[in-house]
Amino acid sequence: MTIGAGPHGPGVLVIEPMGNAGRFLVEAADRLGLRLYAATHKDIHDGYPDWLRSALAGVCATDLADAPRALGDMEAFCRRHAIAGIAACFELFTPLAALLARRVGLPGNDPLLARAARNKILMGEVFAAAGIPAPRGRVVNEVAEARHVARSGDLGWPLVVKPAEQGGSWGVTVVDGPDRLAAAVRAARQYTHARPHGLELDARALVQEYIPGEEYSCETVVADGVAYPLPVVRKDTTDGRYRIETGHTCPSGLPVALARAVQHIAARAALAVGVRNGIAHTEVKIPPGTRTPYVIETGARLPGDNLCEIVEAATGVNEAVAYLQAVLGRVPETVPSLTEAATIRFLLPEHGGVLRQVFIPEEPGTHSEWHLRPGDTVPEPADSACRIGHVVARAHTVREARELADRVIARSRVEVG
Ligand SMILES: Nc1ncnc2c1ncn2[C@@H]1O[C@H](COP(=O)(O)OP(=O)(O)O)[C@@H](O)[C@H]1O
Ligand SMILES: [Mg+2]
Repeated sequence: MTIGAGPHGPGVLVIEPMGNAGRFLVEAADRLGLRLYAATHKDIHDGYPDWLRSALAGVCATDLADAPRALGDMEAFCRRHAIAGIAACFELFTPLAALLARRVGLPGNDPLLARAARNKILMGEVFAAAGIPAPRGRVVNEVAEARHVARSGDLGWPLVVKPAEQGGSWGVTVVDGPDRLAAAVRAARQYTHARPHGLELDARALVQEYIPGEEYSCETVVADGVAYPLPVVRKDTTDGRYRIETGHTCPSGLPVALARAVQHIAARAALAVGVRNGIAHTEVKIPPGTRTPYVIETGARLPGDNLCEIVEAATGVNEAVAYLQAVLGRVPETVPSLTEAATIRFLLPEHGGVLRQVFIPEEPGTHSEWHLRPGDTVPEPADSACRIGHVVARAHTVREARELADRVIARSRVEVG
C-alpha cells in the first residue's frame, strides 16, 4: 500500500499522531483519501519516523503542554488549511481535541466532560452519577490517607492503587495487604509530567476496590451523539501485583448476550465521559457468576496494543476509519463483514536488564514484530514498557488463533542479562 494522502480530500488535524494507534490513523486517512495534518512540538516532529513524516500534508508546530497557546496556534492552522475534522491519538490530549473542535465549530466531544476521559478520579465521579457499574474508590494524596482507607475496610482486600492520569498499567499495583500499600502509593504518585510533551499530570492516586473476573475491552464510535458499538475483545493480563496486558483476542468468545452487555455498558461509559463525535476504548471486568460488566476505564481514543489490526482481521471493521468518519461528521462504517479470529500475544521478560537475544519463530498464519532490539534496556516487568515484541495469529476460530499465538510465544526465546 502506498501511504500519502490525496491532495484534494478533506483535511483532518491529529493532535500528536505519535500515539500507538498513529499507524492505523495514517492508513485509514489514506484509505479515505484524506489530507492528514499533525499538531505537535517541533522537537518531537524532528524525531518522527519516515512513515509518519511522509504521510503528513502539513504540521502545526506548537507547544501542546501549553493549552492556551496550542489552541490559538491550532485554531489559526485549522482556518488556514480548511481543516474539516479534529482527531487525537494520545489519551492525554483528548480534552484539548474537544476544546479545539468546539472553538473552530467542528464535530467533537463535549469539552465540559472531556477531562473525565483522561482523569480516572473525574471518570469515577461521572460513572457514579450515570449509575455505571465501576470499582468504588477513594482519592489519596499521601500514604497515611491510603492506610486510613485500608483500615476502614470499606473497600476490602486486595486494593488497587493507580495514578489519576496515566496509561499502560504504569504505576498500577494490586495490593494484597497493608505492607505493600506505601510502595504502591509512591509508585502511583511518581508521575508529575507526561513524556514526550511535558504535559502536567494530576499526581493524586486512587485506591479502588478490586474487581475479580475476566477482562474485556470494547470500542464505541459515536457520531452526532449516536453510539455505534464495535466488536468485543478478550484481554489477557499477568496475575499478581502488576497487571500487564499479555494479549488480546477477537472475537471475545463471550456468549452473545454477555457480549451485547459489554457493548452496551461501553457505550454508556463513552457517552458519560462526553464522547459525542469520536471513539472510546473501554475496559471492563465481569465478576465470576455475574452478568454485570464493571467498567475499569474508558478513554476517548483509539485502542493501543495493535487492537485496530486484531479487530479488523477478525471482523473486517476498521476502527480507525470509523473514528475518522465520526470526527468528519459522517456515518461510521461499523458493520462486521468477516467471522474470523485473531490474537495478539506480547513477549514479556522475566526480569529487567539488557536484552541479549530475541528469537520469535515463524509459523503460517502469524507475523511478529520486535519492540526492543539486542542491546536495549529492558525495564522490570511492572508495566507495558517491558514488552520485547509481539506475535499476531489469524485463524478461523478463537481457539485456533489463541493456540497458534501461544505456540509461537512458547517457542520464542528471550535472553536478558
Ligand atoms: N479496580 C480494579 N479491579 C481489578 N483490576 C483492576 C482494577 N483497576 C485496574 N485493574 C487492572 O489493572 C490494569 C490496568 O489498570 P487501568 O485502570 O486500566 O490503568 P491503565 O490506564 O494504566 O491501563 C487493568 O487492565 C486491570 O487488569
Ligand atoms: Mg487500562
